[in-house]
Amino acid sequence: MTKICCIGAGYVGGPTMAMIAHKCPKVEVHVVDINQARIDAWNSDVLPVYEPGLYEIVAACRGKNLKFSTAIDQAIREADIIFISVNTPTKTFGAGAGRAANLEYIERCARRIAESAHGHKIVVEKSTLPVRTAEAVKRILSASANGATFDVLSNPEFLAEGTAISDLLDPDRVLIGGENPAAIERLVDVYAHWVDRKKILTTNLWSSELSKLTANAFLAQRVSSINAISALCEVTEANVDEVAAAIGTDSRIGPKFLKASVGFGGSCFQKDILNLVYLCEHYGLHEVAEYWEQVVKMNDYQKARFTRNMVKTMFNTVSGKRLAIWGFAFKKDTNDTRESAAIYVCRDLLRENAILNIYDPKVAHEQIRNDLRDLMANEAGELNQLDRRLIDNNVHVVESTQAAASGAHAIAILTEWDEFKTADFERIYSQMQKPAFIFDGRNILDHQALKQIGFEVHAIGRRV
Ligand code: UDX
Ligand code: ADP
Repeated sequence: MTKICCIGAGYVGGPTMAMIAHKCPKVEVHVVDINQARIDAWNSDVLPVYEPGLYEIVAACRGKNLKFSTAIDQAIREADIIFISVNTPTKTFGAGAGRAANLEYIERCARRIAESAHGHKIVVEKSTLPVRTAEAVKRILSASANGATFDVLSNPEFLAEGTAISDLLDPDRVLIGGENPAAIERLVDVYAHWVDRKKILTTNLWSSELSKLTANAFLAQRVSSINAISALCEVTEANVDEVAAAIGTDSRIGPKFLKASVGFGGSCFQKDILNLVYLCEHYGLHEVAEYWEQVVKMNDYQKARFTRNMVKTMFNTVSGKRLAIWGFAFKKDTNDTRESAAIYVCRDLLRENAILNIYDPKVAHEQIRNDLRDLMANEAGELNQLDRRLIDNNVHVVESTQAAASGAHAIAILTEWDEFKTADFERIYSQMQKPAFIFDGRNILDHQALKQIGFEVHAIGRRV
């Protein structure tokens, strides 16, 4: 019986291991984390990660072949295959700050594996990592005190949040990079329980590591490209959704990832591109670095442009005005807010002295305040008095679209949650200040119907 351990019970480790347990009843899966609260949540009825379909799978396997605990050393000792699925945030200090990946969690994991392991283990990098991290992992492991031996594989995760379960069930591909064919085959065998072997690609370690960064850079580039065009549409009376549909029919371009928006967010896109930029600079490839950096700059521009448009439209001032913010997660069907455009838009509106009523169906109230605090704090993590007062007094986190819009001058749609489309806009309109504005940062609403009710509607890349 194969035993798998996964270090890191987050958005990647949790769902991926649940799927392996679900599809491989004979494989024993043990997910461990240093964060006791997170592990307790995985063992409860309210999982720490919101993902459609996840709870059912976890509930079916938990107590059978899927276990969550903080017994890291024990899990390492027992496992044949150890996945490293810890977070690799962008460095905030020292060399490469703001760009390079902070690898301290990865290193800590590798050291712990080296200390606890006996015999032979396959160590799998699941976290997105800069190219050649496997080299460092291998060196740390080779210093194992107990004479354990290791094969290191790279198996980047391509699931997108909000669709993790269907992405895991039916992936476009599974990518496994490594050196030892026997170790690669061992991991291929796990996925082959439910993934067609033709879709399981094997490469060398470095190609696998770089493919993950490249895939995210290409996807983010599509969003930034269409967002760049959205600005042009707004001044030329072209409609960005029509342009996207028209170019998307070209089979060489394709229709996906061309949805103009208030800007992309999430834990991967910005981080991975900045990582790529750092890597290119490290190798002296300045033009290549600049090329990719522009994708992130365009995204910053799109977020800032959205707020500027709101303020300009509302007679150049939102000071003292109540504004309804619908959606705070970086996309629908997730409770994740990492790098969400909403955090930036809310910060900029707060600094214009607006009063914000924020509603998101799945994001915890405290998370919203923490995200704003983190973004507005200085490098030492301190808030100045003014910003503290803005967060304490001007931010109201509420329980419904209706509560958010009551008494407000405007609604800003920042996440494309389905429930926003079916809100009772007639009733909402009657409870708002007039003129009542809607800024649809996701182009999801029926703009003509809203106009008929009386709203003044503004969208991304199209005149309403
Ligand atoms: C991404 C990759 O898709 C996934 O393969 C990788 O493993 C991790 O990074 P994720 O960050 O979960 O996944 O979300 P994704 O669906 O890619 O969306 C990223 C951001 O782009 C979101 O903020 C989304 O709203 C935005 N987006 C996406 C757009 O604004 N327009 C689009 O057309 C598509
Ligand atoms: P991702 O989106 O990559 O899954 P998350 O932040 O959701 O990122 O999850 C990473 C998890 O890894 C967190 O729950 C964190 O507590 C855990 N973690 C970080 N470092 C270690 C470590 N050294 N040992 C065990 N778990 C760790």
